[in-house]
Amino acid sequence: MELKSILYNAFKKKSPDELIAVSKKSELKKTLNVFDLIVLGIGAVVGTGIFTIIGSAIQGGPESVGAGPAIVVSMVLAVIACVFSALCYSEIAAMMPVAGSAYTYTYATMGEFMAWMVGWILMLEYAIGNITVACAWTGYFVQFLKGFKHILPDFVVNFPMWLRNDYRFMFSYCDKYGLDPHTQMPFIFDKIPFAINLPAMVIVLLLTILLVKGVKESTRFASVMVGVNMFMIISFIIVGSFYVKPENWTPFAPNGFEGIFMGAFLIFFAYIGFDAISTTAEETENPQRDLPIAILGTLVICTILYICVALVLTGNVPLGQIDIQAPIAHAMRAIGKDWFAGLISIGALCALTSVILIYQLGTTRILYAMSRDRFLPKSLRLIHKKYRTPHVLTWISGIIVILCTFFMDLSISAELCNFGTFTSFIIICIAVLILRKTDPDRPRPFRVPFSPLFPILGILTCGGLMVYSMKFLTTSSLYFPLWLLMGFAIYAGYGYKQKRLEEKLKCQRRLKPNAEIQVK
Ligand code: ALA
Repeated sequence: MELKSILYNAFKKKSPDELIAVSKKSELKKTLNVFDLIVLGIGAVVGTGIFTIIGSAIQGGPESVGAGPAIVVSMVLAVIACVFSALCYSEIAAMMPVAGSAYTYTYATMGEFMAWMVGWILMLEYAIGNITVACAWTGYFVQFLKGFKHILPDFVVNFPMWLRNDYRFMFSYCDKYGLDPHTQMPFIFDKIPFAINLPAMVIVLLLTILLVKGVKESTRFASVMVGVNMFMIISFIIVGSFYVKPENWTPFAPNGFEGIFMGAFLIFFAYIGFDAISTTAEETENPQRDLPIAILGTLVICTILYICVALVLTGNVPLGQIDIQAPIAHAMRAIGKDWFAGLISIGALCALTSVILIYQLGTTRILYAMSRDRFLPKSLRLIHKKYRTPHVLTWISGIIVILCTFFMDLSISAELCNFGTFTSFIIICIAVLILRKTDPDRPRPFRVPFSPLFPILGILTCGGLMVYSMKFLTTSSLYFPLWLLMGFAIYAGYGYKQKRLEEKLKCQRRLKPNAEIQVK
C-alpha cells in the first residue's frame, strides 16, 4: 500500500458536526447542573494525591528529591499547568459537548492515528493511575487496622510487609535499612522473591465484581463520598492548625528548585480528574455555560484546600518524619490524636474507593468507545446478558490493574500516570490551536482568553515539567516510551487494518443494502 494512502487514512478526521449530531440523539438524560459537576469533579480529583502522594512530594521518592515545606510553591506550579489545559478543555467541551473527552476531541482535530494514541495514553491516566490509588488504599487500610489495635489480634494489625507491598519495594526497603531480603519475604525455590500487595488486589477485585454487576453512576453517591472527603480534609485543617510549629517550615526549600519542580511533577497527580467533568457533556443541562465554570471551580476549590493541608502537614510534623504511605493520618498520630487518625483513615478509604470506582468505569468507557470505533476486537465489547454491562472489558481492565500491582508500586504508577496525563493535556492545547485555524467560525460559547498565548503556555508548562522530571525518573522515563511503542504496534498491526475493513464493509452495504454482510 502506498505511503500516501496510509497517511491519508491515519490522519482522517471525524467531523465535529457528525459528533455533535450523534450526541444530540443521545438518550442520556440531561440532568446535571453546575453544582453536580463540581461535586463530580471534586469526587474524581480529591484522592491519592492529597492523602498519600503529598508525602513523597515533600520528602522525596526513590528517584527524586522532595520539595519540603515549599510543596505549596510546587502546588501553585502544578495548578498553573492545569489551568491553561483546563481552559482549553473548557473551550472544546463547550464547543463540542460530546462524550469521550480527549479521545473524541483528538479524533475531530488530528485524525484516527492520534485519536488511538490519545486513547492509549488515557489508559495510563485511568488504568495505571488506578494502580497508584489501589496502592495508596493499602496504606490507609493499614492505618485503619492500627486504629483497632486494642481489639484486633496482632497478626491482623501488623500483617507481614510482603503481603502489602510489591517485591521491588521490599528490595528497596531492605536496602535502605540494611536487611537481608530472605528474612523479610519468602522466595519461591529459594530464588524468586514473592511479595504481593494483597489489600490493593482485593479492593480492585471487589470493585470489578461490583462494576460487572452494574453500579449506577449516581451523583447522590458521589455527593456522599465528596461530603465525607471534604469533612475530613476541613477537620484535618482545623484540628492540625492548632498544632502548627512555624519552626517546622524551615528550611523552606531544602532541595531548592530541583525539589520544587519534582514536587510539582508529583503533586500534579492530585489535580488529575477535572478533565473527567468534560466526559459528562452529554448529560449536562447547559454544557456551554456550566462546563467551564465547573472545571475552573473544581481547580480553585481543590487548590485552596490542598495549600491549607500542605501548610498544616508540614507545620505539624518535622521534615524527615513525614510518613509517605499515609501522611495525613500519621500527622494526626504525631500530634497525639490517634482516634482522629482512625477517622481520617476511614475518610481516605472512602475517597480512594470512589476514585478507583470512577477510574475503572472511565477505563472501561474509553476502551468501549475505542472498540466501537473498531480499534479493538468486537468480542471485547460484549454486553452481559443479565447486568447489561461491558463485562469482558470490565474484567480485562480489573485484571490488568491487579497484575500490575505485582511489579509496580505507587511511585512508578503515579509517575507514568502523570506522563500520560501531561501528554493528553498538551494534545488538548494543540487541538485548540488547530481548531481556531481550521474551524474559526464554529460558535465558541467559551473561548480561551489570550489565545494563542495561553494554549502555548499550557504546552510549555506541561511539557517543561514532564521533560525536567524525565532527567531524574529513570524507570518511568523508560516505561513511558515503551508504552507509546506498544500502542503504535497495536494500531499498526490491528487497528489500522480493522478500520479499513470497516470502511470497505460500509461501502459494500451502501452498494448492496439488502445483502447479508458479515462483520468480524
Ligand atoms: N487526582 C486523583 C487522586 O489524587 C487521581 O487520586
